[in-house]
Amino acid sequence: MDGIYSKAKVSPQPNISWSLEPDLTEIMAESRSYKKLLYAWEGWHNESGVPIRQYYEEFVPLSNKASQADGFADTGADWRSWYETATFEQDLEDLYRTVAPLYKQLHAFVRRQLYNQYGPKYINLKGPIPAHLLGNMWAQTWNNIYDMMIPFPNKPDIDVTEQMKNQSYDAIKMFETAENFFTSLDLLPMPEEFWNKSMLVKPDDREVVCHASAWDFYNRKDFRIKQCTTVTMEQLFTVHHEMGHVQYYLQYKDQPVGFRRGANPGFHEAIGDVLSLSVSTPKHLHAIKLLETLTNDEETDINYLLKMALEKIAFLPFGYLIDQWRWDVFSGRTPPSRYNADWWYLRTKYQGICPPTRRTEDHFDPGAKYHIPGNTPYIRYFVSFILQFQLHEKLCEAANHTGPLHTCDIYNSKEAGAILKKILQAGSSKPWPVVLQDAIGIDKMNASSLMKYFDPIIKWLENKNKMKNETLGWPDFNWVPPIPEGYPGDIGKRRELWHSKHTTEMCQSIVNGCTDPLTPNVGIEK
Ligand SMILES: *[C@@H]1O[C@H](CO)[C@@H](O)[C@H](O)[C@H]1NC(C)=O
Ligand SMILES: [Zn+2]
Repeated sequence: MDGIYSKAKVSPQPNISWSLEPDLTEIMAESRSYKKLLYAWEGWHNESGVPIRQYYEEFVPLSNKASQADGFADTGADWRSWYETATFEQDLEDLYRTVAPLYKQLHAFVRRQLYNQYGPKYINLKGPIPAHLLGNMWAQTWNNIYDMMIPFPNKPDIDVTEQMKNQSYDAIKMFETAENFFTSLDLLPMPEEFWNKSMLVKPDDREVVCHASAWDFYNRKDFRIKQCTTVTMEQLFTVHHEMGHVQYYLQYKDQPVGFRRGANPGFHEAIGDVLSLSVSTPKHLHAIKLLETLTNDEETDINYLLKMALEKIAFLPFGYLIDQWRWDVFSGRTPPSRYNADWWYLRTKYQGICPPTRRTEDHFDPGAKYHIPGNTPYIRYFVSFILQFQLHEKLCEAANHTGPLHTCDIYNSKEAGAILKKILQAGSSKPWPVVLQDAIGIDKMNASSLMKYFDPIIKWLENKNKMKNETLGWPDFNWVPPIPEGYPGDIGKRRELWHSKHTTEMCQSIVNGCTDPLTPNVGIEK
């Protein structure tokens, strides 16, 4: 499955083929053509997801069998057990409910801006958003469409991709920039093996799994990153993210093997992101010469916070839903005959997006997301996106930061570094609530730091949405975006293959997150 995913390509013409990284990722981020985006989106979902389906159906019972041999009801229960929390699912639901109103405000604002760009034919101001217009193949983060969203366009551009290119940044320089931040906190530099043996750019002599990852070889000296790095601001944050994993490996390397893990998997995902919360501030970007002018005013702040919201708040429902789907698959509540239908049910319910072409059970859209064929659990990212703000707030306090939370940069703070080090060195040798209590004085996940961080932008969005009389949410489920005239053009053959069996009528009644949200999981009670 991993192999199919990493080799999948979309061929718009016989002599051209697009890989996910960098080609399709770039199209999704940069194209503003409805049709081209649709072509890239549909092509990728068909080329990667569809061939994986048969293997996934076979994989699920095998995986359950392994988990059952370890005494768990199924693989979902196995994965959830890593959090050692009896009320884990309820805790997540409570957290989600707390942050969902923020998401709805952002969603309504973004939908309006997309309406201004693509018009009433494609955007229903009361409905879900077509999934291919949000700057990312999975609509999981929306920062790439920031240029269409800028609240105050006359202020400095806080997306520094252009600056990085102008200053001839490359993969090495990006990794050195990240390392420099870690060492400024009195944390560890990357060892020589790391620089010698990591794969930091996409090789052109072989196929590789491009999805960025960090590796602990468990010999206390070999730690590597594999990333097809390209020069963008988004990738600079990915570099920090992956290096956060390696920093964890380095700090707990002297623990017994069994404890060389994160306090829980969400901790492991949060470390690099915590640093990125500082790196991305205008103040820090100015300090490392990626932002020329530093204007200290409310409008720049709002611009900055909107961009952060497009990255962090937009992600929350996505981070929450992936394993809801998978837990249901492993438990049997979602049988193979409803894989795609339940996927789109959750995507619409939580994210307020809908598939831009009709998707059926001949498709397998979950398979078009790395972590499904790669079988990497996903709830860790949701946990991380809550936890990283809790950690950020505490580190900022230790760094003697004054002023609003979103302006904090912990660069050079040994005091902040000492708190992180304590968390990292403990590995999984203590229950995570104890690790958290020791570090920040609280033993629970809590969305209050996130709410505090985003408070100014949420107020701004509420006000903006009120003025425009926006309908929050997506009550009109019967809306599906139309297929553009002339589409799919050169996708003809594929279209035939995947769509021929289904009349419009069938498609609408079988599978479409947008058309049929009210009958999820028909027939199987939870
Ligand atoms: C890293 O590579 C350099 C140059 O090839 C070599 O001299 C050095 O021994 C290597 N270090 C390690 C730790 O592998
Ligand atoms: Zn990670």
